[in-house]
Amino acid sequence: MPVITFANTKGGAGKTTAALILAQELARTGARITILDCDPQHWITHWHEISVSVPNVQVISYVSMANIQTHITENRANTDYFIIDLAGARNTLMATAIGMSDHVMIPIQGCAMDAKGGAQVLELLGYLKEKAGISIAHSVVLTRVNSLVTTRALQVVKTLLSQRNVPVLNTPIIERAAFRDIFDCGGTLQTMDPERVSNLDKARENARAFGDEVRHLVPLRATTSARRAA
Ligand SMILES: Nc1ncnc2c1ncn2[C@@H]1O[C@H](COP(=O)(O)OP(=O)(O)OP(=O)(O)O)[C@@H](O)[C@H]1O
Ligand SMILES: [Mg+2]
Repeated sequence: MPVITFANTKGGAGKTTAALILAQELARTGARITILDCDPQHWITHWHEISVSVPNVQVISYVSMANIQTHITENRANTDYFIIDLAGARNTLMATAIGMSDHVMIPIQGCAMDAKGGAQVLELLGYLKEKAGISIAHSVVLTRVNSLVTTRALQVVKTLLSQRNVPVLNTPIIERAAFRDIFDCGGTLQTMDPERVSNLDKARENARAFGDEVRHLVPLRATTSARRAA
């Protein structure tokens, strides 16, 4: 049961949105998801409360340093993927969650290249590797990318990051009304009404590509977090 954590110390980078899209997408394809909501704004907890039924998704709220390990241990048997949504802050919970992760996703707002919060997460990952010999897989995911941004412009950003040896997902998360509205209306991208949400088909397609890429990167198998805890 891999642990995937969304981290960026900068607020508003798109962590919660990307975490929810991934959770829904993995759940849609049959995986059992436990979301650990560490965001003090509790957006995912609220989303879950207003959603009538979301098969394969459970949400644990009020996750703290004191109980995060227990939540993971207690839910191991009923979970295929843990998804951790962190606060936009640099704190000990962030370091603990990252230490338990099989893959850290670092959302960075597309072409703004306002990457300072992401760089702090990358620094921590580098520190863990250098000082403690713990190497944690990670990827930058470009978020809130304007749908008009060309593939070429995106490629420039990706090349810049890979020149600094930062892995970047091929699939950016596009700025879509569906990804924003889902927090207000609850449910999933599949249960949303295409008559009411513009470009819902494109949002679904984007979520699918994102989910496929992450599933490929972090397959269901014996995981480093499980090995580390053993
Ligand atoms: N792909 C997207 N399309 C449309 N709106 C988005 C998208 N990603 C994020 N947003 C919007 O941007 C804002 C910030 O996003 P989000 O809450 O996901 O960021 P965050 O990194 O979790 O923030 P925080 O650090 O405060 O927890 C929200 O209003 C959200 O609806
Ligand atoms: Mg958030």
